[in-house]
Amino acid sequence: MKIPLYIPSISRKDKHMMLNALDDPQLTDGPRLRKFESKFGYFTKSKFSMGVSNGTSAIHLTLKALDIKKGDEVIVPDLTFIATANAVLHCGATPIPADIDSTLNISIKSIEEKITNKTKAIIPVHFAGSVCNIMDIIKIGKKNNIKIIEDCAHSLGAFFKNKHVGTFGIAGCFSFYPTKNITTIEGGMVITDSNIISKKITQARNHGLSKSLIERHMKNKPWIYDMKDFGYNFRLDEVRSSLGLSQLLRIKDLEAKRINAAKYYNKKLENVKGIETPSTYVGKNHIYHLYIIKINKSFGISRNKVHEKLINQGIFTTVHYKPIHKFSYFKKLGFKDKDYSSTMDAYRECLTLPLYPTIKRIEQDYIISNLLKLQK
Ligand SMILES: Cc1ncc(COP(=O)(O)O)c(C=O)c1O
Repeated sequence: MKIPLYIPSISRKDKHMMLNALDDPQLTDGPRLRKFESKFGYFTKSKFSMGVSNGTSAIHLTLKALDIKKGDEVIVPDLTFIATANAVLHCGATPIPADIDSTLNISIKSIEEKITNKTKAIIPVHFAGSVCNIMDIIKIGKKNNIKIIEDCAHSLGAFFKNKHVGTFGIAGCFSFYPTKNITTIEGGMVITDSNIISKKITQARNHGLSKSLIERHMKNKPWIYDMKDFGYNFRLDEVRSSLGLSQLLRIKDLEAKRINAAKYYNKKLENVKGIETPSTYVGKNHIYHLYIIKINKSFGISRNKVHEKLINQGIFTTVHYKPIHKFSYFKKLGFKDKDYSSTMDAYRECLTLPLYPTIKRIEQDYIISNLLKLQK
């Protein structure tokens, strides 16, 4: 049997919606994007939603809107996809990785240790779909006058205290990369309740121009527009917006299937010696974007060996992620392993198992039985 790590869920309706978008001459920055944004705002209960080219540009534009620049420091988790830190570099600022805690989310203690008078923002990630300790991070932000931007690339559909993630800080940034809970192939979204940030991002995603294409053609002189500020082409096109819209309409179903499959893994693995499941190290607050187990010494065989042996059986697993401070680029900045003992533990022990909405029980049983056979 061959089992991939993930399979995006693209329905017949998704394809139909994309083909329809191709028949409309306005192929980008048009009504489908506006509708996707408005449904996204409704779903997350946020005032403003701005569709952009990907999750990295979502964070980059938000940092720019907050005037983060050279000389500033931004705290990011050491355990995240490199994009969280790269978006900070795009603004000329310095990303400062903080260690994680046992839930794999950013550690409050480490954040406090990393704050300096140059710290202007913190970007916590709701890692793998589990809500981070956002209330404490908001408190730290208020106390030190530091902005909180939530990286929600893993956590569309995650609520805490009845609020969607991304609505606790000044803004929330989402990715619709093919592995994510909904996909637009490439794509991203920023949510915020701030009118000023929304205006700045809407303008900056479109070259800094004062009007979108639709607004220009509503008046009789479409060439009359201004460039008020520096901007980029970070627009989201109509075909991808229609895919996002169609996927968003079935997010509840997609999410329920992921959670169901994750709970099955939990049930079968949570009492196995040497394996920690997210149900034990995170607890309940998890929407399972990724299903990550920790394999410790008492399992009797190393995580790397488990990965290798499973591949030989056609089962694709991976590690999320190589810690930020381990990349050559960041080593130059002088970050040391000793400050990141928990991310180093995670980097040695974590293994992501295949999880996607259409995964079958028979596939999960095959994964579980092959994994258990390896225990020594
Ligand atoms: C935690 C995290 N942040 C940011 C991103 C960046 O998103 P994108 O790939 O859409 O630029 C990703 C994407 O993989 C991610 O996993």
